[in-house]
Amino acid sequence: MTPTPHRPIRLDALAYGGDYNPDQWPEETWAEDARLMRQAGVNLVSLPVFSWPLIEKTPGVYDFGWLDRVIDLLWDSGIKVDLATGTATPPAWLIRLHPEVLPHNVDGQRLEFGSRQAYCPSSPIFREHALRLTEAMATRYGSHPALAMWHISNEYGDHVPRCWCPASAAHFRTWLQNRYGSIDGLNEAWGTSCWGQNYLTFEHIEPPRTSMGPINPTQQLDFERFSSDALLELFQAEIDVLRRVTPDIAVTTNFMSLFKELDYWDFAAAEDVVTDDAYPDPADPHAHVPAALNYGLMRSLKGGQPWLLLEQAPSAVSWRDVNVPKAPGRMRIDSFQAIAHGSDGAMFFQWRQAKFGPEKYHSAMLGHRGEQSRSFQETAALGAELKKIEAVRGSRVKASVALVVDWDSWWGSTAPDSLPSQRLNWLEQARAWHSALFALGQTVDVVRATGPFHGYDVVVVPNLYIATEAQAGALTAFVERGGQLVVGPFSGVVDPTEKVHDGGAPGPLRELLGVEVDEWWPLPDGQTGTLSWSDAAGTASELSTLIWSEWIDAAADADVVARYSDGALAGRAAIVRRTAGAGAAWYLSATLADAGLQEVLGGVLDAAGLPVRSTPGRDIEIVTRSNEDTDFTFVLNHGTGAVSVAVPEGAHDLLTGDDVSGNLTVQGFGVAVLAHPSPTSGTETGSTTEPLSVSTASENPGV
Ligand code: GAL
Repeated sequence: MTPTPHRPIRLDALAYGGDYNPDQWPEETWAEDARLMRQAGVNLVSLPVFSWPLIEKTPGVYDFGWLDRVIDLLWDSGIKVDLATGTATPPAWLIRLHPEVLPHNVDGQRLEFGSRQAYCPSSPIFREHALRLTEAMATRYGSHPALAMWHISNEYGDHVPRCWCPASAAHFRTWLQNRYGSIDGLNEAWGTSCWGQNYLTFEHIEPPRTSMGPINPTQQLDFERFSSDALLELFQAEIDVLRRVTPDIAVTTNFMSLFKELDYWDFAAAEDVVTDDAYPDPADPHAHVPAALNYGLMRSLKGGQPWLLLEQAPSAVSWRDVNVPKAPGRMRIDSFQAIAHGSDGAMFFQWRQAKFGPEKYHSAMLGHRGEQSRSFQETAALGAELKKIEAVRGSRVKASVALVVDWDSWWGSTAPDSLPSQRLNWLEQARAWHSALFALGQTVDVVRATGPFHGYDVVVVPNLYIATEAQAGALTAFVERGGQLVVGPFSGVVDPTEKVHDGGAPGPLRELLGVEVDEWWPLPDGQTGTLSWSDAAGTASELSTLIWSEWIDAAADADVVARYSDGALAGRAAIVRRTAGAGAAWYLSATLADAGLQEVLGGVLDAAGLPVRSTPGRDIEIVTRSNEDTDFTFVLNHGTGAVSVAVPEGAHDLLTGDDVSGNLTVQGFGVAVLAHPSPTSGTETGSTTEPLSVSTASENPGV
């Protein structure tokens, strides 16, 4: 899908603010909110996300009075709005008038009103009412000077990613009819001759419900695709209304990081600005590592265009079993991390901490204690600091490594049954590969399996279970142009209808990778294996395998760079490398433990000529954003101890205002934003001179 033209957020600064729910507070509070927001440097708030019942108390009759007053007050205080269309949750009257709007779970049980997002994505009645509200909002506020962008719905799929109600079933049938044209086409695609599943008519098809045994895998996969598309259709329907009424205003919907249920490549193509809600768990000292992958996805969804962190928690959330607060400094560094990764601002859920409802224990920018609350103090301090790094706005992140994310493969390889092993988890593998690259000092973009790969020296594919000729062609071209490609196990297995490729895996990638898979060899629970690997210098080491291995044969023109060293596969090829054109493709037939992944991926980075950290670690992160003349290098110390960073001549710390060179000490949870002239950018494939190098002396190795 071609990305839509970019309508920017109408805001001349890094965005700073949060969700604002004035309708939960008496009107007298609003003036104080505006005053404190100004004091904290807030310039953008999201509202009215869940206020439909207050705007439309009677069907078709809108009361915008209170909303007018809030928006005017904000605007008078210099604060803009990320204006929600308000369609995230329908009013009770709509549900009582049309109970069929409510979603059904997999067992056909209707979910009752009593929480938010009480609608079936395919309900025509819900859509009709939601679009009417969207149009009313657009007409009312489309020319208000406070309007910065449209915030459509809220976190699509958060509570109801899939629905099994009669309306969804009918919508699924139409979707299948459009996809396959005829019932014969569907029978062929679904392989219904197995287990007597043939259909005579689309009317006989149901979404995959609880059944007596394993369900047709293609039916399951198509239901995943359909369910993502059903929400996309709803999103697109609101976009169409907004495009018609306010063609120049940017639209977004807030994503939920690496969210399995929705194919964000398609969602991002439909909107102007990517926004994300990120809730790294403060209880996890390494939560910043998967966060970096999420942010890599966000900036990549629209080809490197700046995105916006629309929600994060100032401290604790209220929806985990145990909600640990953020230690002093953690909210600050988390915010800077998102900005380092291309977010043009840092926003929160929410402005004022709730007094009632399910989120009253969720932290907010203005805590229950008011101005004295730690969260307000930290919020105001961060607001002041962001003004100092205004120059980074609009700049783009530099990355030489990209990781392939493919929702089809995610869905297919993690079906609920009928796989060689239920232990191979797509997300865990993607995170493990990214985490190894993070430890090796890499900033990682995310890319589709069809590219574009321009600008990358290394592309890693932790898994591409469903592979097509088009993907294989794009990956082959990348390698032949000089790229290093690494493909993980259980890839190239089936086509998009879940049929095993002729001749077996890795199907269309067979020639490029120089391997043929004979048999999957998953490891029994609790068992590990080993393989022997030699690095480019010939140094041998034993690497641990977990969960998965394969019986493979290497082609005559491929090199076996690692062999299994124990069990039934002992002596057989485990990792194969094949040169193609100016580059090379590597196939890892096993899942490796972290140390092994770092070893192998480190070898690949070396082969690509990319700088690799001499002491791998996960506390320090260095990310560079650039514009035409300046590099902004963010040095983020996610650990609690001080570290020393070697800084080249000519750097200026935007936060302290000091010129820095030589050794810079960055305290625990400390951040430096170093501006320096862009080095002449480099090789044909786009890599640039590494501007800073982390001193290994004081970093905690191997973290
Ligand atoms: C998000 C949601 C917000 C709020 C927040 C709390 O998922 O969009 O409305 O509920 O979580 O962490």
